[in-house]
Amino acid sequence: MAVTVSLINMKGGVGKTTIASQMAHAADRADLKVLGVDLDPQSNLSQSIMGVEAYVDHLAKNRPTIVQIFDDYIPAGPNHNSPRPIDLDGIIVKNAGYWSNSDLDLIPSRLELSRTLKNPTGKERCLAKALSRIGDRYDLILIDCAPTESILTDAAYFASRYVIVPVKLEFMATIGLPLLARSLQEFRIENDDHTIEIAGIIFHHADYSSGPETKQAIREVEREAEENGWHIFRNQLRHSKSYPGAARAGAPISLTDYARRDVIEEFEKLKNEIFKRLGI
Ligand SMILES: Nc1ncnc2c1ncn2[C@@H]1O[C@H](COP(=O)(O)OP(=O)(O)OP(=O)(O)O)[C@@H](O)[C@H]1O
Ligand SMILES: [Mg+2]
Repeated sequence: MAVTVSLINMKGGVGKTTIASQMAHAADRADLKVLGVDLDPQSNLSQSIMGVEAYVDHLAKNRPTIVQIFDDYIPAGPNHNSPRPIDLDGIIVKNAGYWSNSDLDLIPSRLELSRTLKNPTGKERCLAKALSRIGDRYDLILIDCAPTESILTDAAYFASRYVIVPVKLEFMATIGLPLLARSLQEFRIENDDHTIEIAGIIFHHADYSSGPETKQAIREVEREAEENGWHIFRNQLRHSKSYPGAARAGAPISLTDYARRDVIEEFEKLKNEIFKRLGI
């Protein structure tokens, strides 16, 4: 069965999608079978893995997305008058990678996923149920989450064995962590039959040339992690323009044009550390 991991931080713009897509590419290149799940209405993971053009085309053709997993049917469209029940295989985009050698599968998202939030009753386990039907096909399932807590966060918890928490090393770096701790604690109290743990915090966007801010942020996050008993990955990722470049190219960082060798090596080391901790 696949190891299922959610990328979560209740703070936005910290690198969740960047790390989800780069881990997906890295696992794919290591010949692991990977499914990316875009659980964010912003759909950044979908755009970065499929490429913007293919993603826009997917939406224009009204192809299924993760919305169907929560709403359990495909709305009536130009080619069919009545709604149809979902077919999970139809929702998964096979070999979704814009990157030509990619063998990645993806469940894409769309903005309308936010409508799920308006009518959330009974939907918390929809994603877990769907993924349990296909878990034996994958080695790794990566779920990219939105920065705000909602029913979608609970859906990610139910579907996951592990959570990875990217933290951007900046002023107010810790702001999302108490929210995550409380949210996980409440989830565990209400659902003691489900095992979920924080695999670790990733120090991301490290920039030691920008004064004391990075080191100050590290101290604050370490304090928070210790209070909660959370592991911190030893290898960090520095601030580098190569990451937005890789997202735009839909490429692994290791194959991104002009990506610096030390940035590539840094990601490689972190990836190995994460895979070891996840047991894959
Ligand atoms: N190490 C890095 N160095 C420089 N820029 C980075 C780095 N990692 C990510 N970025 C850029 O920072 C921005 C935010 O990253 P990303 O989208 O991965 O964050 P996120 O946590 O998924 O955001 P959101 O909460 O909105 O989903 C993006 O433009 C991304 O390309
Ligand atoms: Mg994101």
